[in-house]
Amino acid sequence: MVKINLGGCDSFVKNAEYQKYVEKALAAFDTLQGGQGAGNDFLGWKTLPVDVDEKLVLECEAVRDCWNAKGVDLVIAIGIGGSYLGAKCAIEALSHSFKEPRTRVVFAGNNLSEEYLAELMDLAEEKNVACIVISKSGTTTEPAVAFRIVKEYIEKKYGKAEASERIVAITDAAKGALKTLSTKEGYKTFVVPDNVGGRYSVLTPVGLLPIVVAGFDVRAMLKGAAAEMKELAARSADNAAVQYAAMRNLLHAEKGKAVEILVTYNPKLTFLAEWWKQLYGESEGKEGKGIYPASVANTADLHSMGQFIQEGSRVMFETVINVVNANRSVVIGSDELNLDQLNYLAGQHVNHCNAMAQLGTKIAHIDGGVPQMEVSIDRINEENLGAIFYFFEFACGVSAYLLGINPFNQPGVEAYKKNMFALLRKPGFEAQTEAILKRI
Ligand code: PA5
Repeated sequence: MVKINLGGCDSFVKNAEYQKYVEKALAAFDTLQGGQGAGNDFLGWKTLPVDVDEKLVLECEAVRDCWNAKGVDLVIAIGIGGSYLGAKCAIEALSHSFKEPRTRVVFAGNNLSEEYLAELMDLAEEKNVACIVISKSGTTTEPAVAFRIVKEYIEKKYGKAEASERIVAITDAAKGALKTLSTKEGYKTFVVPDNVGGRYSVLTPVGLLPIVVAGFDVRAMLKGAAAEMKELAARSADNAAVQYAAMRNLLHAEKGKAVEILVTYNPKLTFLAEWWKQLYGESEGKEGKGIYPASVANTADLHSMGQFIQEGSRVMFETVINVVNANRSVVIGSDELNLDQLNYLAGQHVNHCNAMAQLGTKIAHIDGGVPQMEVSIDRINEENLGAIFYFFEFACGVSAYLLGINPFNQPGVEAYKKNMFALLRKPGFEAQTEAILKRI
């Protein structure tokens, strides 16, 4: 379902070098599959495509149906990092780019912008509102702040009893402030499994519930992920995840390529890149190691970052998300006057122009010293999104083990929090407040 093409790296890498990294990737594959590596208590994501049962999907659909019956047309999904990017990615990819859907799912709690929340409340005023609040730990500041505001708004607008039917929480089975609050307020809750970390959680209720509420088919998504899971279980040099992990680590360690740019050619996939950046950045960027994950959205960024990629510091390689077929058809017409001089394109699909831009860019960037891999799906749909989510998660596990990193922790994200809490004068942080005030 997900195919990889390493042809764009041929002129940069000798076959013997690549084979050496395939061996390393196969050893990392064994570590992942054997459950022997660091962080092995967080491997629950590996079997989610077959572990998620029909009961859970039906529970998600029951929430959707209940809110539809109430006429809900705005669902505020509150969460940050892995508790939002997977759902955001899928909903952006599958939604009409311009039409207002029956139920619009918007996201909050992923920033601390006052304008953002005020404007969200402006929108809520015109809508029939429900909320999904998502936090595995149940203690993350950004979603907690947003939820306090949205909860108060919903309670004022609909009353406390009705609010408890319009708020669903997704959190730990037993611990955390969100769990305690949900129990007290009587919210329906879904559980984030203990053995699944945030950025690997798109196929848990964290991703599934918002995607279902937005009107999309998670059975197809799980089916695509399950097919990919089967495909990637084979220990082979032909395994696409092994190949991806081998090549990106080779380019990094042997060719000085410290930056990987995920390249998309469809605005619907911009958040696939955001999801991927979190997955790889948070999984691999530790102990002074890792490849910096960046992204561009072409062809728009060919008119901005294209210059740097073509001629700037030679530190990057590209991984292009190649979508073979468009789901819609738009053909360029002929014009009698041809003042725009585009009649040579008359009768062509816009997607053909996009494909030629992609191919032309590939050749130009290779000529400019930028190796390129392609990760292909046939078209954008639920099944292929499930497959690509699973592909990148699995490949990330292999790649991080190859690099000698625990892919499932994120010790570095705590540093800013301590300073922020000290500056916000959170009780218990008095000593840090004193220390930090001396530094500013
Ligand atoms: O991947 C991760 O673990 C993180 O990005 C978390 O998803 C993010 O920090 C949000 O955490 P929580 O769901 O506990 O609020």
